[in-house]
Amino acid sequence: MDILIQFAYVVSGGLFIFGLKQLGSPATARRGNMVSAIAMLVAIVAALLDQGIVDFQWIVIGFVVGGAIGAGAARMVQMTSMPEMVALFNGFGGMASLLVGWASLAGATETFTLITIVLAILIGGLTFTGSLIAYGKLSETIGSGAVMFRGQQVVNSLIVLGILGSAVMFCIQPENPQWLYMVVGLSLVFGVMAVIPIGGADMPVVISLLNSYSGLAACAAGFAVNNNILIVAGSLVGASGIILTQIMCKAMNRSLSNVLFSGFGSGVQDTTEVEGEIKPIVVEDAFYILEAASSVAIIPGYGMAVAQAQHVVKELCELMEENGAEVNFGIHPVAGRMPGHMNVLLAEADVPYDQLLEMDDINPRMENVDVCIVIGANDVVNPAARENEGSPIYGMPVINVDQARTVFVLKRSMASGFAGIENPLFYKDNTRMLFGDAKESIGGLIREFS
Ligand code: TAP
Repeated sequence: MDILIQFAYVVSGGLFIFGLKQLGSPATARRGNMVSAIAMLVAIVAALLDQGIVDFQWIVIGFVVGGAIGAGAARMVQMTSMPEMVALFNGFGGMASLLVGWASLAGATETFTLITIVLAILIGGLTFTGSLIAYGKLSETIGSGAVMFRGQQVVNSLIVLGILGSAVMFCIQPENPQWLYMVVGLSLVFGVMAVIPIGGADMPVVISLLNSYSGLAACAAGFAVNNNILIVAGSLVGASGIILTQIMCKAMNRSLSNVLFSGFGSGVQDTTEVEGEIKPIVVEDAFYILEAASSVAIIPGYGMAVAQAQHVVKELCELMEENGAEVNFGIHPVAGRMPGHMNVLLAEADVPYDQLLEMDDINPRMENVDVCIVIGANDVVNPAARENEGSPIYGMPVINVDQARTVFVLKRSMASGFAGIENPLFYKDNTRMLFGDAKESIGGLIREFS
């Protein structure tokens, strides 16, 4: 039996790795998700058998209740609220590791086990409260700005020292529970303190970092309960989360320490000065320009998700192709509110993957594009990132839509994007603003074409 269980663990670990690999491309991502879910099921069944006598009554109740909540939440969540949900689930993962670490305290005497228990509780605790704050910021229930105050670094340093001191004391005197309670309490406080100074535009990085932490917490819990597959799965999540964090930092041209400690948007005043004037355009006039275009680039952003315009975008794309234009999509790595947000929406509308070009592939072509249609994107097409050293997003790579011959910007108003800063693109000579809900504006263009 033991051999079979170990074999199931190996199969499950292999499926996790294979699933992760498949998640790397939009074409295979759904299958990757399914493979990983199967791997998790194999791991759970094997772990239950591994434990020998367990009370299956509670396991079944937990399985049914947890499964129902997870399935219900996943079905009901709006696509635009998906990042919040990811943040929340990360947090629950952290709390689960904290509880597993705590529960495995009974009878633990070896120093190594005690250290892994402390790590599971520490990382799990800070992941839990940090994720709740990230959830609050993303859903804008607590405001998305950076919260900074005098002496913040000193307070944080004292908390870290308190955690380290209590952790060491716990390992020396495991029979004294108040040291562990100190670690639990201070970790929960530290999660809050670590995320409040991080502002809105840096949330993608925070989420993937918290995702990595939840994996590390699970890994530590795996050592604490001596379960191999928990160690493997936790390490995979920890490592892939940190790689994604690096990719995100690169996309925003920031170092991780700058993201975590500088309070984005709080120190740098936006000094972007706009010149020129807004030139609105109506659907009928936009249609005449589009009809004559032989090359079109579509740059989607968060507003496309809000308007749920992906299906009409696909329809317009087909009409323009029938009209003889070459149409491509330019995807910025942090467009929308979660990694791969635009890819998921466009895949849902069956836009072929080979039409989706990454920022580095579409930028060199931009000068040859007749019309660039910006659909609900703002920060990711802001030329201030290139032109104005005083801009808070200076240095962040953006899609250079202003280099196309004509740019249409589809948005409802002159409101700013997530970073809350001015966008000089809207005032450029070659930019025309097509005001209105993106789905309605595109619907209008479709009517003109047909
Ligand atoms: P944003 O800069 O947030 O701009 C979105 C624009 O969409 C807004 O200016 C808004 O203008 C417009 N909009 C909203 N609803 C619309 C509708 N129904 N129809 C038409 N337009 C609509 O979006 P972005 O360019 O995609 O940039 C993403 C930002 O979010 C970046 O700052 C990024 O760092 C941050 N962020 C990204 C992630 C990830 S991982 N992708 C996660 C969290 C945060 P109006 O209100 O005037 O319509």
